[in-house]
Amino acid sequence: MRRKLLLGNWKMFKGPSDAKKLGEALKDKFKGATKPDAVAVFPPALSFASVRAALDGSPLTAGVQNLHWEKDGAFTGEISAAMAKEAGAVFALIGHSERRQYFGETDETVNKKTKAALANALVPVVCVGETLQERDGNQTNMVLTRQLKGGLAGLSAESAATIVVAYEPVWAIGTGRVATPEQAEAAHAHIRNELRVLFGALADSLPIVYGGSVKPDNARGLMSQPNIDGALVGGASLDANGFYAIGEAF
Ligand code: PGA
Repeated sequence: MRRKLLLGNWKMFKGPSDAKKLGEALKDKFKGATKPDAVAVFPPALSFASVRAALDGSPLTAGVQNLHWEKDGAFTGEISAAMAKEAGAVFALIGHSERRQYFGETDETVNKKTKAALANALVPVVCVGETLQERDGNQTNMVLTRQLKGGLAGLSAESAATIVVAYEPVWAIGTGRVATPEQAEAAHAHIRNELRVLFGALADSLPIVYGGSVKPDNARGLMSQPNIDGALVGGASLDANGFYAIGEAF
């Protein structure tokens, strides 16, 4: 059985004090056993410490939204995988479409970051997904293959054993236009096949989560698909009740 993950990407929302409040609300909400096998939130880097502290004693963990592949150095504005690890991060989002779109992230930098995360015992959540134009041009599978082959290049099955892939169609992110369960499942099945080409039998144990306008009322249909192993939630993860309700749909 694959692990089912509920991940909350807070993006550039919640400064340290608001993040602390949300962390406390989540700790309160997710008290007992959770339906997902793991629940994690990704606050802005400046708020990471206050969220980590607020979640102490809770089963929830936290991750960073980005990292740099070097251990340290003259890279103004960046944080390294080693620093994220030291601060208590468990996961690292890598190659989110907003980073690809606005900050020049490429499959090559995704590859370096994924390797840095793995080398520092962080679980990389490698994000892939096509734009609307690419989907309309019947290029979805080609784009996903290119992003996976580039982003995961040079990894052995052994070193890739902990990775998570997030399928996030760009046209579904923050738009309220969720992929249908069938559309998402088709993309996830394609991703699983590509992972099989790259890593053989390991592909069957790697979680592939869906992201893009996941809400409490559409989560169940998505989660019932055989190749959808969880959700990467943006907007709806900023509300403890809504985020919890998505987990209940697992
Ligand atoms: P959304 O964002 O749920 O607000 O669409 C998802 C994401 O960008 O990870």
